[in-house]
Amino acid sequence: MTSAVARTEARVDAPATLPFLPRTLRGDRRRWHDGPTPASLADLTAITRQVAAEVVAGMHEVRVDHTARWSRRLHADPHLDVWLISWTTEQAAELHDHGGSIGALTVVRGELTEWRWSSGRAEDHEVTPEELAASGPGLRRRTLGASSGAAFPLGHVHDVSNRRPEPAVSVHAYSPPLSTMSYYDVDRGNLTRTRSELVEPGASPEGGEVLR
Ligand SMILES: [Fe+2]
Repeated sequence: MTSAVARTEARVDAPATLPFLPRTLRGDRRRWHDGPTPASLADLTAITRQVAAEVVAGMHEVRVDHTARWSRRLHADPHLDVWLISWTTEQAAELHDHGGSIGALTVVRGELTEWRWSSGRAEDHEVTPEELAASGPGLRRRTLGASSGAAFPLGHVHDVSNRRPEPAVSVHAYSPPLSTMSYYDVDRGNLTRTRSELVEPGASPEGGEVLR
């Protein structure tokens, strides 16, 4: 699906191919299952894995900026944004959600640490029942190494950071493209929204913060 890439961004390093096929074209009865978008979490995960392979193959330039997190949008259409992001040590995204978008990331190289808020209830399908029973609501940590990743369903609240000495590189996909993000604090075990912001079209995703 290269035509949309060429129409929206005439970048020479746009993804060569994307496996994204809107569910409206599939006759898939589970359309809209994951969110207000014809893409599914599985679609977005597949896209980030494919583009990550393109990065490994040298098809996309990656820069590292120690003063501000570097990112480049590789694809944009009405349903989908795909971003390439590099993270130096201590570059991080503060605790946030993705508004009405779902998303996914795949780590190309290095390692990212994600702290994800869990409600501690049975509908949290990302952790085992035993883990839920053991720890209840709270932030849960996982490390994401090269070729691994995470999917962001609606309501997914997380922060992402690079705690390793070497830079990390990741590919992110959002559908629909990010338009709002809310930010959070955890106060005495409760998740508290501190602010919500509009995300301008083309603005770098994942917010920004430097670890102290
Ligand atoms: Fe995020």
